[in-house]
Amino acid sequence: MTTIAAATSADLPALLELLGQSALPTAGLADHLDTTLVAHEAGHVVGSAALELYGTTALLRSVAVAPGLRGRGLGQELTRHALALARRRKIRTVYLLTETAGGFFPRFGFRAISRDAVDPAVQRSVEFTSACPTSALAMAAELERRAST
Ligand SMILES: CC(C)(COP(=O)(O)OP(=O)(O)OC[C@H]1O[C@@H](n2cnc3c(N)ncnc32)[C@H](O)[C@@H]1OP(=O)(O)O)[C@@H](O)C(=O)NCCC(=O)NCCS
Repeated sequence: MTTIAAATSADLPALLELLGQSALPTAGLADHLDTTLVAHEAGHVVGSAALELYGTTALLRSVAVAPGLRGRGLGQELTRHALALARRRKIRTVYLLTETAGGFFPRFGFRAISRDAVDPAVQRSVEFTSACPTSALAMAAELERRAST
């Protein structure tokens, strides 16, 4: 059985290992653990998705699934959970940077945008300023307001 829940500090070492295996940046994640979602299977961390909140905007980062468990829907499930969390936190626009998964995110409403169009508060994040190469694709999704999520 797979569970998705808020991360705790006990998850951090395994989360960082998962990001390393997935060639994703680890810098700054520890500062956003309370808005990080973690998937567990049989006591092991098998997936993650994290939000960095900046007022009414957020950066979606660290969307990762353990290499042997990809292609079973878990990445989409984690992304949906992260976007539901963003809605609950009254986020209007979610941004992300990706080097390898530009084709994964349009199904959630993300569209490619220029880096300059990203909210300045998000542009100042560690992920934008140092952790992600300048060649990474920036994407944005506007969240519609839904009372039920
Ligand atoms: C991207 C990632 C999270 C997807 O997780 P997953 O559990 O394998 O994905 P799911 O099983 O939920 O979804 C599968 C669908 O996504 C597509 N997909 C998966 N990875 C993709 C990628 N890198 N680029 C484009 N599409 C991708 C599959 O083709 C499939 O499409 P379909 O539904 O049309 O058949 C996973 O491949 C991963 O951890 N990659 C490395 C880390 C990364 O690049 N993260 C994103 C940047 S934050």
